[in-house]
Amino acid sequence: MADPMIDPADPVLVPIGVPERPLDRRKALVIGIANKDSIAYGCARAFRAFGADLSITYLNEKTKRYTGQLAEALGVEDALYLPCDVREEGQLEAVFEAIGREWGKLHVVLHSIAFAPREDLHGRVVDCSRDGFLMAMDISVHSLMRVARLAEPLMEKEGGSIFTMSYFGGEKVIPHYGIMGPAKAALESAARYLAAELGPKGIRVNIVSPGPLMTRAASGIDRFDELLAKTREKAPTGQLVTAEQVGLATAALACDFASIVTGEILYMDGGYNIMG
Ligand SMILES: NC(=O)c1ccc[n+]([C@@H]2O[C@H](COP(=O)([O-])OP(=O)(O)OC[C@H]3O[C@@H](n4cnc5c(N)ncnc54)[C@H](O)[C@@H]3O)[C@@H](O)[C@H]2O)c1
Repeated sequence: MADPMIDPADPVLVPIGVPERPLDRRKALVIGIANKDSIAYGCARAFRAFGADLSITYLNEKTKRYTGQLAEALGVEDALYLPCDVREEGQLEAVFEAIGREWGKLHVVLHSIAFAPREDLHGRVVDCSRDGFLMAMDISVHSLMRVARLAEPLMEKEGGSIFTMSYFGGEKVIPHYGIMGPAKAALESAARYLAAELGPKGIRVNIVSPGPLMTRAASGIDRFDELLAKTREKAPTGQLVTAEQVGLATAALACDFASIVTGEILYMDGGYNIMG
């Protein structure tokens, strides 16, 4: 029987339409692919699978040989496969200039980079050098603010979604995570402020917080194998996450159907963070 409270013309009576390729014709920039194991590569593959066109960056000529084949696999055009060391004057800016020239707009940016000098990463936070701290904060945190500032004019036309990659060690003390812990705490807070400031322009900023996975960056962390074992044991899923899983969940959050999600830490860790 018809519900007298529902108007027959009410749109709730029509099934919700979900596009098959929800990022079709969307433009996405991915910063942080070092090799095929990078979390950023898992995300780039997923953005592509969801229909997005991609621009990706490489750190320098040395690392380019690990990423050339990946750029090809992702269908990235030469003009949008660009060098980007955020410490090199003008390189990050040049990436956004190229995107402005080639696309004139941008919908998704993934910021998936972090660095701390080895001696500071391996030492106690108590002993962290000023230079090491500043370098870790510059590469791992301030670069996100620069990314957001450069993305803003390209994203405000049609709205956009910015992601940064964090880890639970920014919230709780994780043995051997060292100075990256405070850096991730700063990153998460910065992302929330960016979300608040850019939200009125239709730009979302979210923090993806994956469980540990073996990548080049992770190999710099002492006793990482112990962290992997502990995570597998404690996570409700009983499994470690993969870059592909992180990518697919991140891509879903980049879609219009996640348009109300901003300023959040999105844990992708098999539930590890909820356990006491
Ligand atoms: N692997 C993990 O367990 C894990 C878990 C949670 C979060 N994360 C975070 O994910 C992000 C990606 O790391 P990953 O594990 O995929 O390792 P990765 O080594 O594949 O990626 C790290 C990236 O940072 C880039 N980078 C370093 N210095 C840079 C600079 N000066 N300019 C530009 N790029 C620079 C590297 O080139 C590399 O592409 C990092 O922020 C990391 O902290 C990693």
